[in-house]
Amino acid sequence: MSILGAIKRFAAVGAVVLAAVSLQPTTASAAPQPVVGGTRAVQGEFPFMVRLSMGCGGSLYSPTVVLTAAHCVSGSGNNTSITATAGVVDLQSSSAIKVKSTKVLRAPGYNGSGKDWALIKLAAPINQPTLKIATNTTYNTGTFTVAGWGAAIEDGAQQRYMLKASVPFISDATCRAAGGAYSDLIAGEEICAGYAEGGTDTCQGDSGGPMFRKDNAGEYIQVGIVSWGIGCAQAGNPGVYTEVSTFASAIASAAATL
Ligand code: ARG
Repeated sequence: MSILGAIKRFAAVGAVVLAAVSLQPTTASAAPQPVVGGTRAVQGEFPFMVRLSMGCGGSLYSPTVVLTAAHCVSGSGNNTSITATAGVVDLQSSSAIKVKSTKVLRAPGYNGSGKDWALIKLAAPINQPTLKIATNTTYNTGTFTVAGWGAAIEDGAQQRYMLKASVPFISDATCRAAGGAYSDLIAGEEICAGYAEGGTDTCQGDSGGPMFRKDNAGEYIQVGIVSWGIGCAQAGNPGVYTEVSTFASAIASAAATL
């Protein structure tokens, strides 16, 4: 065997070993895992998190309704094709709660920009704590938590274990100033978050999942829904989230019809 062949073979074995290690549950020195730039969520830490089978995230709005992104669904109506997985950080856990959808309600008037929210009605209740949503702009500031099973690096694979990260609020003016698609930010419907230098962000497959923080009572409150960004975790290209407070009453009335 040539030396190059031996090196390639070693590299391939090394990659397999590393991949296997990265699939193991969190150990003592949980190394930062690239959501991008994140770390493993602890079992039970965010019990309202839901993984949806079309490859999106979501949050439990009520035991039978999941809040996600409009761009994760194809329209409104009866729909039994989606499976919601909840109650676990490990999607392959034998204790995962799996429930099918019965209906989807996509935000009225959704046309691909803004209004990026949708509700999924479940065939049976998921007996886990729900995540309350912001009903005014009080908490649309500060540092937020994001979590999901999406790519851990741009163009990377979906994750087996839920990752989490913290991202600071970015003002509409600063977000717009990023240029390109960000110039078209719909300020009343979208809220940006991330670091100017990049490195930490949600990414493909995190869409529909919640961006949340603690309120003055110390309880989690959802302020955003993962919506879009240019690439993931790039310097100068923030994450854009649906501004939940803007749609809180529309979400509540929609949920009441399901
Ligand atoms: N649209 C993506 C999805 O469907 C989410 C992208 C979030 N991107 C970001 N850079 N924050 O999963």
